[in-house]
Amino acid sequence: MTGIHHMLVHFPEAFWALATLMILVGALSRGRLAEIAQAALLPVLVLSLLAALAAIVSGFLVWPMEANLASPLVRNHILMALWSLGLWTLITALAWQARDAAFIDSRRWALVFLALLGGGLFAITGTLGGHLAGAPTAFSALVGALGWNVYTTFYVPYWVLAVMVLVGLGCAWLGVREFRQSRSPKRVKSRVTIS
Ligand code: HEM
Repeated sequence: MTGIHHMLVHFPEAFWALATLMILVGALSRGRLAEIAQAALLPVLVLSLLAALAAIVSGFLVWPMEANLASPLVRNHILMALWSLGLWTLITALAWQARDAAFIDSRRWALVFLALLGGGLFAITGTLGGHLAGAPTAFSALVGALGWNVYTTFYVPYWVLAVMVLVGLGCAWLGVREFRQSRSPKRVKSRVTIS
């Protein structure tokens, strides 16, 4: 049964790696290749989410939960898998909502930032998986150099949680403000005049 997880995890890893590359090419270059990367991003993102769900479900089905939670290495692996899923779901929702405008203006930089963050998260998920399967890579040493000992449970300090809550509230406030402005009679009138 373990072979099922080993086989399935290659799909989200490959699709997320491809999506990261497509976002970088689509945002940082011009020409035909950039256009193709932008146009094909959404299907690749949707496929990556389906593949990630299959990999996560297989992880929970293959090994008993008590065994998973008994090991800090597996706990870290699950944590990073869920963080990766959360972040890539957000990127997919943004690309879905913006469609053709996803790479316009400041949105492209938001996509690049989120893709680099998401790329780091899925790489850590994979490297912890490799560690579990007895094949640590040089990337694990990099994670260690950043101050994360992979053999002890990853904890987020309280001050980081507080900053995350503040950033979340700030984003929600900006979103509500932008939404209200987009519906204000002045903005609607100028849009009608332009069209
Ligand atoms: C996006 C989700 C996930 C990804 C990308 C991922 C990735 C990986 C990778 C790359 C490996 C090494 C496989 C190999 O060397 O052939 C692995 C192993 C492993 N994964 Fe995951 N994983 C994910 C989710 C999960 C979840 C949710 C669990 C548990 C609930 C889990 C438990 C394990 C365990 C226990 C191993 C070690 C297998 C062994 O020792 O043979 N994984 N994973």
